[in-house]
Amino acid sequence: MEDKCDPSTLSNYEFVVATTLHLDIDVSFSTKKLSTITQTSFTVKQPVEKILLDTENVKVSKVEVDVDDTDLFKEATFEMLPDTKYIGQALSIEVPKSSLPLKAGQKVVVRIHCETTEGASGLQWMEKEETVGKQQPYMFTQCQSRFCRSLFPCQDTPGVKFTYTANVTVDQGLAVVMSAIIDGEGEKTKDGRMRYSFTQSQAIPAYLFAIAVGNLAKKDLGPRCAVWTEPEVLDAAAYEFAEVENILKIAESICGHYEWKRYDFLVLPMTFPFGGMENPNMTFLSPTLLAGDRSLVTVLAHEIQHSWTGNLVTTVSWEHFWLNEGWTRFVEDKIKAVMVKDEVYRKFLLVKAQKHLNDSLVEFEDLKKPELTALVPNLTNRDPEDAFSGVPYEKGCMLLTYVENLVGGPEEFAPYIKNYVQTFKNTPINSKAWVEHLISYFPGKAEVLKAQNWDNIFNSPGKSVLDIDMSNPYNDKCKAVSKKWIEASSVESYDQIIAEYPDLQTWSVDMKVEILETLKESGIKFPQDKFDKLSEHFGLTETSNIELRTPWIRIGLHSELKCVVDPALDLVKVCGRMKFLRPVYRALYEWEESRQVAIDTFLKMQPFMNPISANWVAIDLKLKSEKS
Ligand code: BES
Ligand code: ZN
Repeated sequence: MEDKCDPSTLSNYEFVVATTLHLDIDVSFSTKKLSTITQTSFTVKQPVEKILLDTENVKVSKVEVDVDDTDLFKEATFEMLPDTKYIGQALSIEVPKSSLPLKAGQKVVVRIHCETTEGASGLQWMEKEETVGKQQPYMFTQCQSRFCRSLFPCQDTPGVKFTYTANVTVDQGLAVVMSAIIDGEGEKTKDGRMRYSFTQSQAIPAYLFAIAVGNLAKKDLGPRCAVWTEPEVLDAAAYEFAEVENILKIAESICGHYEWKRYDFLVLPMTFPFGGMENPNMTFLSPTLLAGDRSLVTVLAHEIQHSWTGNLVTTVSWEHFWLNEGWTRFVEDKIKAVMVKDEVYRKFLLVKAQKHLNDSLVEFEDLKKPELTALVPNLTNRDPEDAFSGVPYEKGCMLLTYVENLVGGPEEFAPYIKNYVQTFKNTPINSKAWVEHLISYFPGKAEVLKAQNWDNIFNSPGKSVLDIDMSNPYNDKCKAVSKKWIEASSVESYDQIIAEYPDLQTWSVDMKVEILETLKESGIKFPQDKFDKLSEHFGLTETSNIELRTPWIRIGLHSELKCVVDPALDLVKVCGRMKFLRPVYRALYEWEESRQVAIDTFLKMQPFMNPISANWVAIDLKLKSEKS
């Protein structure tokens, strides 16, 4: 019998395990509530008398249980166990005495009537005035990592996968999308509302449950791909992500057949807290990716890649999160290299990875939590959200690159990737199982693989211990430019750099970001005239590309230049994507002169923010302490 190996769930999934879920969801914008009846089928693994499920701030009004498919539901006694304050509160359901003892292999169906409450962490409600078109209100979920439990009681662990069907009732004029495939056109209810049905026939973990409701339009981009978004944004989104089918094909060539049938995606409002979220059949994307020149499409490639690494092959717990994100980053770079037809570019992307990793290491150092920089952190008695950072992404990606080199290079590695996906697609995976399979896949390399210090690789905090050759011409070019900007100290020298690199504005966004990040990391302060010349050289004052705008603002704030305060405030007022929002707020906070306006702006905007972003910014602005 499997032990419980996920410390971030309160469910007793080692005793009973969910296999299918049916939901009836009523979406009410007037009360800002989801009212749900969930009907979950569980298989008993070990004799048990109670079923424990994860919840956070949900109101449960009734629980019914049916054992062995008699279709005779009996009302069951239930209670909320004490609140853990950091991973929610278990709902404990008593299996009716007449059905006890439950034996391994038996089927138990549990029906729960529940409602969400105000401020549910996985939900964002928006008034129509807050949307682009201002025609209809909007609602969307974000369940990763542990927020599905704020929607309805469930086994909220990546280690349990279930199929689902859903009927969703909404007011007329609203469209619904889910992490599932829609059945038909929807039907009118007796009271003049609309009901839409969805099916997810592949088993998925709770964190991939997703729903969004709003004034949404759809445009087909290929035989199995379509973009959804507000009508006002549809053309821009269709242009930006026109390559979707092509990217999907590249990913298939690396990982094998795409098993989810359709790949549709939704471009959300600006408040969406991430760049992308790999909800199956309906990736969620941030509108910050709409740069107008397809330069930020890598995030789409990343979310597509999760269809294999993350959604098919899924980690057992958030401790082994790198198996989702490190793998996905690793293949994302391969996809990108194919797209730009340049394998050397991958090495450059690794340099960027290194920078991202360093950023995270510094952050955890400041928080005095270096233990969270281990590739496999210990999350016992911790909120898994606290461990989220660039570490699993970048250390994970570096580890795979290192292993790829160790076994002979990309060609030797290619068939292994497909084998890895096939081997683990039905079993939750941890780091140990990954290493064992790796060693068995490469018998000729078993000695060298076994000789690695795996304990060190997985458990030691701080910098990656692996030796990887990252030298590449793109990085050399970037380094040369940043060095010049760091050293220059007179108007003549600024003009000289600009004259030396007249085509800099045509360099890839990745390269420009890399240079700006290096300037920021150097910690030097730019006097106003130097900053103005830098802005001119990179076209930064006018750019709407947020990847460039953010490091520019950070350099400016660090240099205590008033000219970037308004651009910084403009950014934090509209952008919920934490990758930009949090560093800009932190930089505003660090400079004494902009600290108060940062706090005032946050307090004013908080009611309109996504609860996940708002929680983190409150911590960044020291208005709140972390939970664990
Ligand atoms: N699954 C993640 C987003 C996520 C991680 C949400 C952890 C909640 C908890 C998604 O695939 C992701 O990594 N997004 C990145 C994209 C980037 C690495 C290309 C993002 O949002 O920036
Ligand atoms: Zn990801």
